[in-house]
Amino acid sequence: MRSTWFALPLAAAACLPAQAQDVLYVRSLAATCAGCHGTDGRTVPGSEVPAIAGMPREYMLRQLQAFRDGTRPATVMHQIAKGFSGQQLEQLATYFAATKP
Ligand code: HEC
Repeated sequence: MRSTWFALPLAAAACLPAQAQDVLYVRSLAATCAGCHGTDGRTVPGSEVPAIAGMPREYMLRQLQAFRDGTRPATVMHQIAKGFSGQQLEQLATYFAATKP
């Protein structure tokens, strides 16, 4: 019987409207940035890593593309940006631009 409870969250996720699933998907992409850029892109004061919450979308997208194609030198971001598709970089830029700094 316990296994039924286990299956419930999965069933609930499968029932979410497509739009809600997109939101969860983009949030999970953005969560991979939190370890360095802080929760939702908000760094703690004095952090060496730049805050990205509220960064203008076009600027951020250009930076991510430049990291990915190697035109902006970086210590780590060139490797991270290579892990995402062009569409995912756009989704990330849209997400963080809409996040309150
Ligand atoms: C391992 C730590 C780490 C992770 C994870 C990480 N970043 Fe970064 N990020 C950095 C560092 C450090 C810099 C400064 C550039 C450099 O040296 O790589 C940076 C710079 C940036 C910049 C440029 C900011 C500016 O002011 O121009 C953007 C945009 C950015 N990161 C976005 C992201 C996004 C989006 C993610 C998640 C997909 C992410 N980062 C994940 C460490 C990280």
